[in-house]
Amino acid sequence: CGIVGYIGFNQAADFLLDGMAKLEYRGYDSAGIAVIGANNVIKIQKKVGRLANLEAIVKQDPNEGVVGIGHTRWATHGRPSDMNSHPHADENMKFAVVHNGIIENYMPLKEELLQKGYHFKSETDTEVIAHLLADMYDGNFEGTVRRMLDRVDGAYALEIICADEPDKIICTKKENPLVIGLGKGENFVASDIPAIINYTRDTYILSDGEIAIVTKDSVSVSDRAGNPINKKVFHVIWNAEAAEKGGYEHFMLKEIHDQPKAVRDTFGTHISEDMSQALFSELNWEASDVDSIKNILIVACGTAYHAGLVTKKYIESLARIPVNVEIASEYRYSNPLTDSSTLCIVISQSGETSDTLAALKEAKRLGARSLAITNVVGSSISREADQTVYTWAGPEISVASTKAYTTQLVAGLLFAVYLGQLNGKLDAALAKDILIGIHELPELIHTIFEVDEDMKAFAKHYGFKTDAFFLGRSIDYAVAMEGALKLKEISYIHAEAYAGGELKHGTLALIEEGVPVIALATQEDVFDKMISNIREVKAREAVVIGIGMKGDEEIAKHVDHTIYIPRANKFIAPILAVVPLQLLAYYAAITRGADVDKPRNLAKSVTVE
Ligand code: G6P
Repeated sequence: CGIVGYIGFNQAADFLLDGMAKLEYRGYDSAGIAVIGANNVIKIQKKVGRLANLEAIVKQDPNEGVVGIGHTRWATHGRPSDMNSHPHADENMKFAVVHNGIIENYMPLKEELLQKGYHFKSETDTEVIAHLLADMYDGNFEGTVRRMLDRVDGAYALEIICADEPDKIICTKKENPLVIGLGKGENFVASDIPAIINYTRDTYILSDGEIAIVTKDSVSVSDRAGNPINKKVFHVIWNAEAAEKGGYEHFMLKEIHDQPKAVRDTFGTHISEDMSQALFSELNWEASDVDSIKNILIVACGTAYHAGLVTKKYIESLARIPVNVEIASEYRYSNPLTDSSTLCIVISQSGETSDTLAALKEAKRLGARSLAITNVVGSSISREADQTVYTWAGPEISVASTKAYTTQLVAGLLFAVYLGQLNGKLDAALAKDILIGIHELPELIHTIFEVDEDMKAFAKHYGFKTDAFFLGRSIDYAVAMEGALKLKEISYIHAEAYAGGELKHGTLALIEEGVPVIALATQEDVFDKMISNIREVKAREAVVIGIGMKGDEEIAKHVDHTIYIPRANKFIAPILAVVPLQLLAYYAAITRGADVDKPRNLAKSVTVE
């Protein structure tokens, strides 16, 4: 989500709408503003859909006033709708709140407030804050906000306005970003720099726990205990476009670097504190639920299909349930053998892919139980499926999927552990090893970014080749397919993925001097076999980049260049091994001058058959 705020001498709505447009890359399923107008009355306008919908309403019915807050939403709790859009207010319209993040303890707070007779209009966690403020209000805005903060847990960036004290916006943050833009006779608040960069380049970047009281002439910052903090001005030197990408040259590179956070947000509350159990409170299954599943069908398209191939390995290894993975557009017309003993899992970043949605409907028609793994709350696929597990990658803008893929693997692996624990097929020690591994992933992914320079160098060197081959065995084969797709879609180099052992049955004929081969060898049980396959292509004078695990130095003897991923459990390895492949594709595209974020002929979300 993105939040904005304005206090000064101009119409607040003008800045709010403009700032929100700059933040639309943070999510865009609904938007809203609250402005303090004549007689200190707060007026809220909000609308589901793109920002243009809200703009139309504000144009027709101007929201006049010089103090206001705004929000563009990427749904977490509650599907996208007018009512679930922010800002939220209490019943007497004394407080209006915009929030980016998740209030973890909103359920008990909501129950308490319901018992006290407060009426909720939305399904959001945020509305709790508005009622809580009203409930705790003692006539002092700042004091009430401070006491309210003592009661909420979770992650947030918050902006609050109060009809009784219309000369200020109070804001604070924990784990979600918040920036204050310093103007003359006016000040700005936003989730991120792009929203304010056309107004001012002098900013305060708030730290966790800091509370800022923003008036038109001043910004005073203090800690939670009330001690004043002397903030340093951060002068922004980026241009507007770079700011939107967090300083990265392209969204794809930013999203590759977003992966540690995306992975962390996705495993979130799904691992028990002692790391022994995979938890899915949103599913709440019992052993009998799993026993009734005789086979699993995974349907998806593109990168999500590749995540399905890895998930098949996870489920078959850990829960011993047979899994078929089908390309959604093929499944639809295959007169499938799906019935009521089938669990159909659909994987989709956008939750809107028409082929995937149609396949889901077909599986349901045939009697299957269904589960969606998607990144977009309230998406068509999440509404169609019986149950949904969300990935929390945040908005993915680049057409080539990166962080959505890695979070799909995390969700798939957690779900496989969950199934294996419910049906008793998974050894407790292995489960724990995997869960600890998932927990360590964000840090391990960070260490892989160290190969950035190597990948850049390889891309410069091989970026003008016409073909490339990706080899792997077992789970690595699925990762090879994703690596090849990444290279194809953004650099336009023809790339093929092969199962190491299959090469000799035909494709080996294409290997000749200088052909780049990217060989994955992270899976211990087929490591020696993979080395033999590498030798087969080396014998035909291919140039081989080997991807292995730290500690398996043997690989370096057989390849031209080696990239090591950190040592990890074999089920964790694919989530790490794909990162260098993403970087390779990215830098190959750069080398060839391709439009990285918007490759030719492709679209991010394909809602036609
Ligand atoms: C499009 C995109 C791919 C994506 C596929 C499935 O083709 O270009 O990157 O993997 O759709 O999208 P979904 O949103 O269903 O995961």
